[in-house]
Amino acid sequence: MRMVDLIEKKRNGDVLSKEEIEFIIDGYTKDEIPDYQMSAWSMAVYFQGMTDEESAYLTNAIVHSGDTIDLSPIEGVKVDKHSTGGVGDTTTLVLAPLVASVGVPVAKMSGRGLGHTGGTIDKLEAIPGFSVEITNDTFIDLVNRNKVAVIGQTADLTPADKKLYSLRDVTATVNSIPLIASSIMSKKLASGADAIVLDVKTGSGAFMKDLDDAKELARTMVKIGNDLGRKTSAVISDMSQPLGKAIGNALEVEEAILTLRGEGPSDLTDLCITLGSHMVVLSGKADNHEKAKEMLQQAINDGSALEHFKLFAKSQNGDPDVIANPENLPKASFTFDVKAKQSGFVSNIIADKIGTAAMILGAGRATKSSEIDLAVGLILNKKVGDQVEEGETLVTIHSNQEDVKECMDRIYESYDISNNKVAAPSLVYDVIK
Ligand code: URA
Ligand code: CA
Repeated sequence: MRMVDLIEKKRNGDVLSKEEIEFIIDGYTKDEIPDYQMSAWSMAVYFQGMTDEESAYLTNAIVHSGDTIDLSPIEGVKVDKHSTGGVGDTTTLVLAPLVASVGVPVAKMSGRGLGHTGGTIDKLEAIPGFSVEITNDTFIDLVNRNKVAVIGQTADLTPADKKLYSLRDVTATVNSIPLIASSIMSKKLASGADAIVLDVKTGSGAFMKDLDDAKELARTMVKIGNDLGRKTSAVISDMSQPLGKAIGNALEVEEAILTLRGEGPSDLTDLCITLGSHMVVLSGKADNHEKAKEMLQQAINDGSALEHFKLFAKSQNGDPDVIANPENLPKASFTFDVKAKQSGFVSNIIADKIGTAAMILGAGRATKSSEIDLAVGLILNKKVGDQVEEGETLVTIHSNQEDVKECMDRIYESYDISNNKVAAPSLVYDVIK
């Protein structure tokens, strides 16, 4: 086989076979196929697309380019959740203990990553003592005992994706649905869960700004997961404004605790119950979503979800006391209120932009080597649809610097206030099973 022929075949809109796709991914992983040929091939895929079969073959080839995790020593149907990413997305911190409290095993492997805030691991490390540096045996043992554990990524998962994603980034080929779907699904499949719930975000703060694109991405990923033998479903949810009120690491841990106590923001709570119900159904712990939602609501109401968060934290060396007293989480030295300059209704909060306002305080990493300040971030007191009076606080800044002018300017640029009443956006646009 010659790579040049496969580039030509894809350029002409023909369908590649399983063997041809394996040849490409294997050759590229081993540096036998150079970046210039892979770039040309990616651009051909960008314009010609891929069939569902080709997308599944591509995903499978990427999964097998490196290590895969075997979770079979864990009893039950292991369910993972993946979000395509957004601003202030606190769902994993809530969902992991919540669904575990009703008996669904969650074995989560997580990374740190770049973004407006840290990843799940960074957020959990705001709990004093919390450690994800546990051995594989401890990890498996904890999930068997507590139904939940989080481990930092050590294995060499999907090296082909690491190479290809970096190449796509500099060749204008990121935005191809089969390439995105195979990239995301390969990582989920390599980490070993039996079932996967995808939270595909759409809106200004999301990767997929357009609802139809988000639906097509969700459909493609669900098909790949099911074709490769994992039960997969997707929820398409709103990211036209940040989710919940908190954007920051310790602030999001506090928000997760409030949500598990039944005192969280309604959008975050509703989305967690919805995503959680899909996890419960895929795990076989309930036979329909209504029943699953009731189980999760009951776990919040009777305190067992919060108790489970304590158990989870304590088992990974975290101080369980902060779960009861979240005011003991890391705290920033200063707070500043950003006040509304006019009365009216909040009509828009540009999610990306307000995310960067949190990032310049130090809540997220700009580069892999940046340090995160776990204490800093933003609390959004007003969300889209809320009425506001001139002088009322829109956002509270939690900062360790006294000069927050740039952050404040970005917050003002993010908020639109209109004279007319505005409806809050829908939270869930579609579900794909
Ligand atoms: N996230 C990924 O992991 N891969 C993509 O291709 C796009 C977003
Ligand atoms: Ca949040």
